[in-house]
Amino acid sequence: MKKTLRDTRETFKNFFEKNGHKVISSSPLIPQNDPTLMFSNSGMVQFKNVFTGVEKRDYNRATTSQKCVRAGGKHNDLENVGYTPRHHTFFEMLGNFSFGDYFKEQAIAYAWELITKDFALPKNKLCVTVFSEDQEAYDLWKKIAGFSEDKIIKIPTSDNFWSMGETGPCGPCSEIFYDHGEHLFGGPPGSKDEDGDRFIEIWNLVFMQYEQISKDKRVNLPKPSVDTGMGLERMAAVLQGTHDNYQIDLFKKLVDLSADITKTQINNDTIPSHRVISDHLRASCFLIADGLMPSNEGRGYVLRRIMRRAMRHANTLGSKDHVLSKMIDHLIKEMSSEYNELDRAKDLIKETIINEEEKFQSMLSNGMKIIHDEKNKIKNNTLSGEVAFKLYDTYGFPLDLTEDYFKPLKIKVDTEKFNQLMEKRKQEARKSWKGSGSDSIDKIWFDLKDRYGSTEFVGYSSEKTEAKVNSIVNQDGEEILKAKEKEKINIITNQTCFYAESGGQVGDKGVIKTETGIVEVEDTQKFFGSLFIHIGFVKEGYIEKNQDSYLEINLERRENIKSNHSATHLLHAALREELGNHVAQRGSYVGPDRLRFDFSHSKQINSEQQKKINSRVNHFINKNNKVVTRLMSPEKAIKEGAMALFGEKYGEEVRVVSMGEDNDKIFSLELCGGTHVENTGKIGQFSIINESSIASGVRRIEALRGDELKTYLENKNQSQQENLKKNKLKFEEIISQIKNLKGDYKNFSKYQNEKQINEAINYLNKLRAKNILDDKNKNIVTSSSKNGIEVINQILIGLSSKDIRGLVDQGTKTKDNTIIFIISLEDQKTSIGVGISQNLIDRYDAANFAKKISIYLGGKGGGGRRDFAQAGGGSSTLEKAKEALNKISEEI
Ligand code: ALA
Repeated sequence: MKKTLRDTRETFKNFFEKNGHKVISSSPLIPQNDPTLMFSNSGMVQFKNVFTGVEKRDYNRATTSQKCVRAGGKHNDLENVGYTPRHHTFFEMLGNFSFGDYFKEQAIAYAWELITKDFALPKNKLCVTVFSEDQEAYDLWKKIAGFSEDKIIKIPTSDNFWSMGETGPCGPCSEIFYDHGEHLFGGPPGSKDEDGDRFIEIWNLVFMQYEQISKDKRVNLPKPSVDTGMGLERMAAVLQGTHDNYQIDLFKKLVDLSADITKTQINNDTIPSHRVISDHLRASCFLIADGLMPSNEGRGYVLRRIMRRAMRHANTLGSKDHVLSKMIDHLIKEMSSEYNELDRAKDLIKETIINEEEKFQSMLSNGMKIIHDEKNKIKNNTLSGEVAFKLYDTYGFPLDLTEDYFKPLKIKVDTEKFNQLMEKRKQEARKSWKGSGSDSIDKIWFDLKDRYGSTEFVGYSSEKTEAKVNSIVNQDGEEILKAKEKEKINIITNQTCFYAESGGQVGDKGVIKTETGIVEVEDTQKFFGSLFIHIGFVKEGYIEKNQDSYLEINLERRENIKSNHSATHLLHAALREELGNHVAQRGSYVGPDRLRFDFSHSKQINSEQQKKINSRVNHFINKNNKVVTRLMSPEKAIKEGAMALFGEKYGEEVRVVSMGEDNDKIFSLELCGGTHVENTGKIGQFSIINESSIASGVRRIEALRGDELKTYLENKNQSQQENLKKNKLKFEEIISQIKNLKGDYKNFSKYQNEKQINEAINYLNKLRAKNILDDKNKNIVTSSSKNGIEVINQILIGLSSKDIRGLVDQGTKTKDNTIIFIISLEDQKTSIGVGISQNLIDRYDAANFAKKISIYLGGKGGGGRRDFAQAGGGSSTLEKAKEALNKISEEI
């Protein structure tokens, strides 16, 4: 019977377990402690610090099947995928590791035994390479495998010297090759045809001896070690009698599915696309399950490129429909028994991929529009590199799609220019990537962890404790024996009740006292998950290394933090209940004063939903359920339905916090190392106070509870009250003006809301305008006839410029032989309007008149047309306005 992918994985791990290796689970694809790496790209990444000796584990032999992505960064296979039968973006690497335990001889002996006995590969199908300077490896292969000399090929290049990245552990390596047979093209390693499909590397044994510190500096590792990597898919292919990874059990099904959904055949033309779709789907699902979201920079950008590459291939196959999202269920079914994070993140994976597929469709149609517009501007049958790059960079429209489009029109694309622009863009991306990682952990903490081990945390059950001062580190990162008054320091004790910042919960504050002094602790952090650092300053006296001390946290602050943390869990559960299971935590802040929760969700959460979420959270607070914390294995916790953070590697034992109960059903169950209230009732009244978007597909909720909420609501209430009072006064004032103008004030009932104020103001304005027109006593309107022209002078009070225009139009639009002058007086200014009938405009100019009146009344002139003009003046009196009009009338 053929060995499946799963069998192959098991055989490998079982072999090494049987030989004293500890089976360790894969670390997440996003390296936890290494800002220099983009993705975990081989099995040794999670052991990097163990090789270099800065970190110790309680085992010195390990075996893993490690999730790897090689797209972006030093090892990048993205562009090859699809066009060879063996390249992947995501793959599993099987490995065995020795941390200063066995070395070359044993490593080769294990490898030989496993492939020839357990995997039963015939010797005549195998050959190996060694680094040309590594005679020892050469001799060992001869001795152990009994290979003839032509089967041990010396390679002088970096192909046989492995390094993780620019820096990190490295060493010469020896690769094992399998000969898939004469029917395939290709030559043995080192020959000119080595890149063919016939001789395929299946296993790389790295003899880790050095650490690359910087470009020019390489040092010896403390002890020679071993790191090996076998591509699971390649090995499975060998065992399944094919040279094509895409023919093995898992991929065959995916490729068939891809052909099915796109309704295409599988043949030489289509197979690259089917491979790309299958491979990239797998990479995307795993990356999303480990907490990555598509974006336009760093890792998220690589994920987006992977997804889009697959979508473009689906499009090339002629599929107008979504393809990837239809394959998710199948992939998860096939792979979640080994990687159950896929199952946990199922909804999130689906939502993310569907979103991206929708974006891709709209990008396609936008790109097509631009292409259409550019078609007419093309010179020399070449589309400019700038346009192609704009299509790519702004609309995400891939170059090959652009080329595809123009090919039948016999139009080339200036790819040289495109590539230049692309290179520039990459440089920029690289720069920003380098700057985005946190600094690697200072050596001092590794030393201290080595010397003193983990700090025991007793803070779940006590808020004070005695402890020994193990170490004092000053601000420059140096260990000191004594710290004097006012000095800023970091203190490490053998045990502590101070919670160190993690999982969104802030670090504790408090005091550390010794016989000679008091240290005020302002923050607590931890390294390696277990070395606690109390950060603060000497408030009184001095403090010395090795002193006995007394630790006490600020309890009131901690109680508030606990309440906020428990409230966050209830909120998380309520969000999932209301919005769906795609809601996954993306970050949080749990402080003494407030809480913030970021999560994956693409739409705004409206006030109706917020109300429901609030009421669910408060429901469980009011029930005053007991909060239960249990310790169990991560597997068991997840089986019980605990919500875990994607991309988090959990220890052997995890804390599971459950709270809220309705009809025997637990409302919230989460893996969490934080501190929580004993009963939900302690949380106090809860309310969301703000909801916003912080990134594409990520929403943020800010909430308050207890006293903080009370104060917030009181303040809000107070300012609302004050506002109401102000508005009422304003409203009454307007109504009294309406009364004065004999308006119909009964139209306005008692003040209720701001809308009424505006309505009343509008009414008042209309009333004023009307009164001004009607009330001959208040307003001076004279009309006289001069040289056959009717001259109307109006002096009015408080008109808007719109009203003035209206009045002028009334007088001149429909009538011939009329000139109107209007001056509207207000407190601090005057407004002037002049209108002239159309039949007079070759004799008179309204703009000229308006300007003159304006200057007369202390203004700066105005503007307009010959038939209508407006201007402003300074503050003016009735008398002055009359004078101005008399004067101007003389010109007619
Ligand atoms: N770390 C080695 C590799 O990736 C085994 O090939």
